[in-house]
Amino acid sequence: MPEQYLPPIYWDGDEVAMIDQRVLPRREKILKFTTPQQIIKAIKNMTIRGAPAVGVAGAMALAVGARRIETNDSKTFSRKFEQLCQLVKKARPTGNNLSWAVERIYSVVVENPRTEVAELQRLIRQKADEILAEDVAANKSIGAWGKNVIPTGARVLTYCNAGALATADYGTALGVIRAAYAADSSIQVLACETRPFLQGSRLTAYELMRSNIPVTVLTDNAVGSIMQQQKVDVVVVGADRIAANGDTANKIGTYTVAVLANTHNIPFYVAAPRSTIDASIADGSGIPIEQRNPSEVTHLGGRAIVPPGVPALNPAFDLTPSKYVTGIITEVGILRKPYKRSIRKALEI
Ligand code: MRU
Repeated sequence: MPEQYLPPIYWDGDEVAMIDQRVLPRREKILKFTTPQQIIKAIKNMTIRGAPAVGVAGAMALAVGARRIETNDSKTFSRKFEQLCQLVKKARPTGNNLSWAVERIYSVVVENPRTEVAELQRLIRQKADEILAEDVAANKSIGAWGKNVIPTGARVLTYCNAGALATADYGTALGVIRAAYAADSSIQVLACETRPFLQGSRLTAYELMRSNIPVTVLTDNAVGSIMQQQKVDVVVVGADRIAANGDTANKIGTYTVAVLANTHNIPFYVAAPRSTIDASIADGSGIPIEQRNPSEVTHLGGRAIVPPGVPALNPAFDLTPSKYVTGIITEVGILRKPYKRSIRKALEI
C-alpha cells in the first residue's frame, strides 16, 4: 500500500525538493532548491527539520554543491569541497546525523585522491543517495524491533515529530508506532503539542492523519496529569544525539516527559538509527544545545503573545539522562543498560 504522507525530501531531477514543514498542516507546499546555500538556509529556518532528515538534506546539499564547483583540477575541487563541508556541518549543531552525513560524504574525496572531478561528483551524488536509502531501511528495521515493546491496545505517547517528516521516510519513533499499528490497530497514539514550534500538533498529527493512524493531541502541560490518571502505557520518542553512555538530546520538553514517565513507572523508549549515536562524547554534558531565536517563543503565527520587550528563553533541545531510558531502539536491535556496553557493541556490527 503506498504511504499517504508526503516525503520530506527527494530528488526532482537535479533539484532538491522539500515539503515546507513551517506551513504544515495548513498548506502542502513543495519547495525546490538548486544551490547548497539555499539548502543550508532551509535547514536553519526549519523548512526541513528532524535530525535524520537534516542529515539527508546536508548530504544532498553537498551533492548539489559538488556539481557546481567549476574546475577540472582535483586538488582545487577538494579544497573548495572541504570549505563547503564545513559550512553545511554548521547549519544546526545538536543533531549528530548532519555531521555524520558530512563526514561520510567527505570520505569520498579523501578515499579517491587521484580521481577526476567528474567522477568525484558522481561518487558524491551516489553516496548521498546511499545515505537516503539507508535511513529508510534503518527506520523500517527500528519499526520491526520496536513494535515488540508496544503492548496490545497500548496508549502510546510521543513527543515532537520523529516521523517520516523528520527522516528520509517512515520515521523512528513514528516508525515504531507505524509497525505497531499495522500489527494491532487497537493501539492509541497521544501526540504532545511540543511548544514552541508545535512539531507534535502540526507535524505528527498531520503525518499520522495522512497515514490513517488515529492520533489525539494534548498540550505539553497535560502529560503529568494524563500519566497520573494512568492513561499512558508507554512512551516512544526520537533523538538528536545520543552520547556513549546513552544520555539523549531530544526536543526541549523530552526530559520532563522522561522524569514523569519514571515517576509513574511507565517505560520510556528512545528510537534512533546508529547515525544519531556520537560515541566520541562520553555523556550528555558534551552535547551542544542549540539556542534558537526567542521570537519563536514570543510570537505565535506572526502575532506577539508576550508583552513587547520581555525576553524569552528558547533552548531547542534538552538532555535526558540515560537512567530514565528503558531502551534505545536501533536498526540492529533494542539496546539495554548498561548503555556504554550495548552502544559500543551496536556500533561494532
Ligand atoms: O528542532 P527539530 O524539529 O529538528 O527537532 C526534532 C527532534 O527533536 C526529533 O525528535 C529528533 O530530531 C528525532 S527525529 C527522527
